Amino acid sequence: MLRQIDNNLWVAEQPFQYWGINVGTRMTVTRLKSGLMIISPIKPNEQIIHQLSKIGKVTYIIAPNLYHHLFLSEFQAIYPEAKLIIPKGLNIKLPNLNFAQLLNENKGSIDNQVEYLLIDGFKVLDTSGASTLNEYVFYHRDSRTLILTDTAFHFDGNFTFKTQLAARLLGIYGKLAPSFLEKLASKETQKVKQSFQKVFEWDFDRVIMAHGSIVETGAKPKLKQGYENFLGTLL
Ligand SMILES: [Fe+2]
Repeated sequence: MLRQIDNNLWVAEQPFQYWGINVGTRMTVTRLKSGLMIISPIKPNEQIIHQLSKIGKVTYIIAPNLYHHLFLSEFQAIYPEAKLIIPKGLNIKLPNLNFAQLLNENKGSIDNQVEYLLIDGFKVLDTSGASTLNEYVFYHRDSRTLILTDTAFHFDGNFTFKTQLAARLLGIYGKLAPSFLEKLASKETQKVKQSFQKVFEWDFDRVIMAHGSIVETGAKPKLKQGYENFLGTLL
């Protein structure tokens, strides 16, 4: 179900398991002058398609990193006129993907309404070890919202006991931060630091992430604290 968060800003969520833990997943929809931009699509269903049709025409479908690509093709099949925009490297990971353009190398904007930048040096642990994420984060200026995907989590009392326990073991319960696992994987901390210094130049108050509870207000100092702990340095 699509849920309105602010003017021209919606999210939709669904259950998602990671290593047997329910972490949920979330997509974000912003309405630009040209139409709707969907970041990190979840599995589409009739209700979501119906609700999207009520608020606008889908113009952009965005894959924010090298991992959140599971439902791109399903969305493309429903919205063949929408432009699929992907992070660098996803064209190599998925050579058959029919995309319109890559996100810029470092930073850019969509229609001068939503800015984005690459979080350089950030890696995640997967079955092949430390792997590049190439996550782009987005700043929706009008609602002062930062939209992240996997570069920070926020697990709190809204999650199951098992998820809360896992978050505590990873040292991130109630925190707006990446976990110990990403810390193990991300050795190029200077690059991550430089990227987040640019993120903190944006005047955001809310953070939407793919896995966790949205931080509606006061999110900037909370994220800063999370990243200072993660990087072991002041930002
Ligand atoms: Fe994710």
